[in-house]
Amino acid sequence: MNGRTAGLSADAVRDAAGLTRLLGRLGGAGDCGDLIVVSNRAPWIHSHTSTGPVARRPAGGLVTALETVLAAQGGCWIAHGSGEADRITSDSQGHVLARHLPSPYRLRRLWLSDEEVDGHYHGMANEGLWPLCHDAGVAPVLRGADWRRYREVNRRFADAVADEARSERPVVLVQDYHLALVPRMIRERLPQAIVIAFWHIPFPPPQAWLGFPWREELMAGLLSSDLVGVQTAADLAHLGALRAMSASSGRAAAGAYPISIAWPEAAERTAPPAASRDAARRLVEGRFGVPPRVRLLLGVDRLDYTKGIAERLQAFECLLERRPDLHGRVSLLQVTAPGRAGPAYRWLEHTVRTVAMRINARFGDAAWRPVLLHLDGADAATVADCYRACDVCLVTSLHDGMNLVAKEFVAARADLRGALVLGRRAGAAAELRQALAVDPRDIGALAATIAAALAMPRHEQALRMAAMRAVLRRRTVFGWAGRLLEDGMRAAAACGTAAPAPRAVPLLEAAA
Ligand code: G6P
Repeated sequence: MNGRTAGLSADAVRDAAGLTRLLGRLGGAGDCGDLIVVSNRAPWIHSHTSTGPVARRPAGGLVTALETVLAAQGGCWIAHGSGEADRITSDSQGHVLARHLPSPYRLRRLWLSDEEVDGHYHGMANEGLWPLCHDAGVAPVLRGADWRRYREVNRRFADAVADEARSERPVVLVQDYHLALVPRMIRERLPQAIVIAFWHIPFPPPQAWLGFPWREELMAGLLSSDLVGVQTAADLAHLGALRAMSASSGRAAAGAYPISIAWPEAAERTAPPAASRDAARRLVEGRFGVPPRVRLLLGVDRLDYTKGIAERLQAFECLLERRPDLHGRVSLLQVTAPGRAGPAYRWLEHTVRTVAMRINARFGDAAWRPVLLHLDGADAATVADCYRACDVCLVTSLHDGMNLVAKEFVAARADLRGALVLGRRAGAAAELRQALAVDPRDIGALAATIAAALAMPRHEQALRMAAMRAVLRRRTVFGWAGRLLEDGMRAAAACGTAAPAPRAVPLLEAAA
């Protein structure tokens, strides 16, 4: 194995090697040319510092997963260049200069105007599609002008794919709801391309789409792929149901491919887990002001209304009301990375701060703060310490495509300790069946589940954790990528080399 697989467990190395072999075989056989990943968010964003531009990776599982695929093979990643120092670290074509790119592939940045970002990203993606796809009580805002920008920006991404392709038959991995029209637009330029689209967030049932005026155009775009991947069987059923109602059934095969994590070598460590837990605990106590000997509940999320953070806090408050014996003996550490812009996010931050302050004022004292609210995010190493140090990890999303926090927590617990409380409507719940499943909207039931997690005997913690770890060990992100690529190639082969021209579909213009 090479340096890129250092730090991975044997299972992850096996899957990564399989993926590399798959890509090599396909490239060598001339079945396909190059590999291109397309996503809105870039894997590396540069900012200015006093010592010059510095690259950082945005939070989130999408980047971790896909960079793994490209690192195995090389190729090109096309994404929006949104960082303040992105232009000075790129050449005139938007390619990031090698000395500024910490990863072994071409990164092509696309420059979008403020108007394009407003309409495509803030408007259609964040205010329209995100709430439409997540059943989290926020109504989508659907503006015709945003859809037109969405279409234009999708076209710019497809043009960039045509520019970057080194052959007539590149394999193109199109990511997520920001780029649903791109597969069809690629097909118009590169009819032989193998296009695989992956929808990372929940795919809602047809009734959720009924109020979306451009659903026919969106489906025609997506279904021009060779393969559309979604996270779960439920998402797949919803996609099938909407497809059955659509004018264009498209050429795409479809399947469920639950995304995962790399399964690091550290996850296999059996030797000093207690020592590593104690060390992590001391670090977390120092960093976040957790008093010694207090039991620790942990939440790790981006600040988003889909994550159920306010519900989690209310359930903790309910628990403290019901259980005075827990006063002074348990704290909730909420580590939250900053969220997106917009009224729904401002309101959420206000609510979370207010509830946390209320709980601390009602129950806390000089020696004990029940809620430790940290809203500035934390680096991956600190988050890993939090996973190892806590007693219970609370992943109480109201609705979530997958949720990799749940999987990362399980990977971090080589000591087989700790309990996971997991919202039933997070995609991860379909795989992590030994978690304590909850409906996070039922505050009383969530409080009772947190109490049960705190009281879980060690042997039960170990049994549940070992079972969940066995599932994740077998299903790494490399396996995810390998299955997606292999099935995508198979689907493309079944379609024949000459791809049919996309069928004309009625395009509904927005009334707005
Ligand atoms: C979450 C979702 C991804 C999505 C991303 C966009 O991480 O799981 O599917 O692509 O959000 O986040 P952004 O910060 O780019 O809006």
